[in-house]
Amino acid sequence: MNLAEAAKIAFASEFSFYLKAHNFHWNVEGPAFLQYHDLFGKIYEEVYGSIDNFAEKIRAMGSYMPGSYTRFSHLSEISDEVEVLPVESMLAELYADNDKMLIVLKMAYDFAEQAGEHGFSNFLAERMDAHRKHGWMLRASLK
Ligand SMILES: [Fe+2]
Repeated sequence: MNLAEAAKIAFASEFSFYLKAHNFHWNVEGPAFLQYHDLFGKIYEEVYGSIDNFAEKIRAMGSYMPGSYTRFSHLSEISDEVEVLPVESMLAELYADNDKMLIVLKMAYDFAEQAGEHGFSNFLAERMDAHRKHGWMLRASLK
């Protein structure tokens, strides 16, 4: 594995995580609908806001970007959810995926640091920070 490969895995995983949070925002149901519709909304909006910059930073290092569901499905560490789940399962699954995001982001971070790509590693450190906050919100909602 090298920096470009690790970066593309982290990017495809981030895009898949975004899509799952948006899926849950659309499909959540229950007495606390609005609360979880808003929580998933906050998460998908934050993650989606990072996507373009994430891709362009990798392009700037010279790689072409994966931009198709086929490529994402091969690269992503975040598996698709095709069922409509009860809210507790949505929270638990996104929380587990958030932990995976912290791992793939850290892997790309270590490669970036090793390669002296400090602009990119700073960006990845910010993404890890954002995911720690998403993790806190999901964990607190699961208690
Ligand atoms: Fe919406």
